[in-house]
Amino acid sequence: MKIVISAGPTREFIDPIRFISNSSSGQMGYAVAAEALRRGHEVVLVSGPVAIKAPEGAVLIPVVSAADMAEAVKREFAAADCCIMSAAVADYRPAKILDHKMKKSPGNMVIELERTEDILKALGEVKRPGQLLVGFAAESENLLENAAGKLARKNLDWIVANNISDGFAKTTNACILLGRNGEKIPFSTRPKTELAAALLDAIGI
Ligand code: CTP
Repeated sequence: MKIVISAGPTREFIDPIRFISNSSSGQMGYAVAAEALRRGHEVVLVSGPVAIKAPEGAVLIPVVSAADMAEAVKREFAAADCCIMSAAVADYRPAKILDHKMKKSPGNMVIELERTEDILKALGEVKRPGQLLVGFAAESENLLENAAGKLARKNLDWIVANNISDGFAKTTNACILLGRNGEKIPFSTRPKTELAAALLDAIGI
């Protein structure tokens, strides 16, 4: 199979040197990419800025912003069998990117943010029969309810429900895999490398 995997955070620039981002390490997506390669799949890894090395054999497409990631993922998904969106994509970006470094002035400041595109939702709208779409849901409350909502709203086949109330960029994780046919498969805490293999086993790829 040709599998597109997104990983890591995105950066949404405010001015030439400042950005809004999140603490995603990319470890989960990179572990899924390594495991998919081990199983003989062709892997395209669309990655935001991370400090880890891409697994050997992956076609790495480095991106910075949510808009860059949307462009690359949508293009690659057109000829792919599966997309696994593990990236922590920014939901908002500054409405304007300043050309020059912002200067401080007395008092508070407000930055106006606008929505970014929901990449996964866009993929769910163009998904063809036979294409598999897998999302992640990072939740700190109402884990199953929120994840099930995203599974349905974004027309996914599977969603990995992650409880992130004790952090994000960890090397281990526990999660629950929800399927479009009502599957509900829990995975106890384990290294993300082992979790990647267990998730691909459960999804059947
Ligand atoms: N995602 C995406 N494009 C975005 C935001 C999120 O493709 N602009 C994908 C993520 O890669 C993940 C899934 O959507 O696979 C769920 O993301 P999450 O941030 O948990 O949920 P949201 O849909 O953004 O909803 P909310 O912020 O309300 O929790």
